[in-house]
Amino acid sequence: MPSLAVIGHPVAHTRSPAMQTAALAELGLAGEWTYGALEIEPESFEVEVAELAAAGDYAGVNVTLPHKEAALALADEASEAARAIGAANTLTFSDGRIAADNTDAGGVLRSLPVGMLGIGAGDSAGGGDGGTAERRALVLGAGGAARAAIWALARGGEGAPGEDGPTLVPTFQVDVWNRTPERAEAVAAELGGRAVHDPVAADYPLIVNTTSVGLHGEDPFELLPLTAADFHPDQVVFDIVYGPDPSALLAAAERAGATTVDGLEMLVQQGALSLQIWTGKAPSLEAMRTGARRST
Ligand code: ATR
Repeated sequence: MPSLAVIGHPVAHTRSPAMQTAALAELGLAGEWTYGALEIEPESFEVEVAELAAAGDYAGVNVTLPHKEAALALADEASEAARAIGAANTLTFSDGRIAADNTDAGGVLRSLPVGMLGIGAGDSAGGGDGGTAERRALVLGAGGAARAAIWALARGGEGAPGEDGPTLVPTFQVDVWNRTPERAEAVAAELGGRAVHDPVAADYPLIVNTTSVGLHGEDPFELLPLTAADFHPDQVVFDIVYGPDPSALLAAAERAGATTVDGLEMLVQQGALSLQIWTGKAPSLEAMRTGARRST
């Protein structure tokens, strides 16, 4: 019976086991597969993961803070996304070997609303650079979540399934703002974005907050280059980090008529891609949303 788990430190409050267990049940795999949580300290991460991979009962693991860079470093092979982003959130064990992937990048694209931002059926969304100038995204932050978002948006790729099948997210011109500007300069240069110091948030059809601002009650309008008046109905506002409370940023965006995407959707989308890597099956996103919401 293959086991799966999320590894973190701390891991007590993770919603992944409830979410993935709901997905496995909906796929009819609940009797064969299990998904749990493993608390592992950074000092023992490499040794313990090597033991899991060698023992053979685990098919793979999700990896969360603070282990994502270490997960990439210990893998025998890695996907292009994991290598470019410099971090892995998904490890797959097979014959004692460890393969690393980063489903946060695909999760970002699949979280975006189909029918907006030029996201549509694969053959009509257009490739190349047509229209990139109008498709601007503002990414706030320069940490691990920002790296995945910048890389994914600058490249485009597969979005959420639409009514007519797979959709294509076109490439964006990605502007990166960060509290510490040097970090914005560095990640933008590395991943295909452009650092900005004084962005006019109203000008962006897509705003992605990857900072931890708001998780502990901080005021996003004090700490981020935004005012509530920047939001408008032609905008998508995406708060990538999920917290226990609804985010003040998204509440303000919603009041202004913007389309909002929360961190729970991001959690579901990256988790669905991981589960598909391990089981080869596309899980029910609705079952995962319900499972994740219930696990408070
Ligand atoms: P993660 O890997 O989860 O993205 P991280 O690397 O710790 O986490 O990055 C956290 C992000 O939130 C950073 O962009 C950080 O800005 P700095 O690079 O200047 O540290 C941002 N952040 C955290 N607290 C912040 C605050 N009070 N105001 C503005 N930005 C903040």
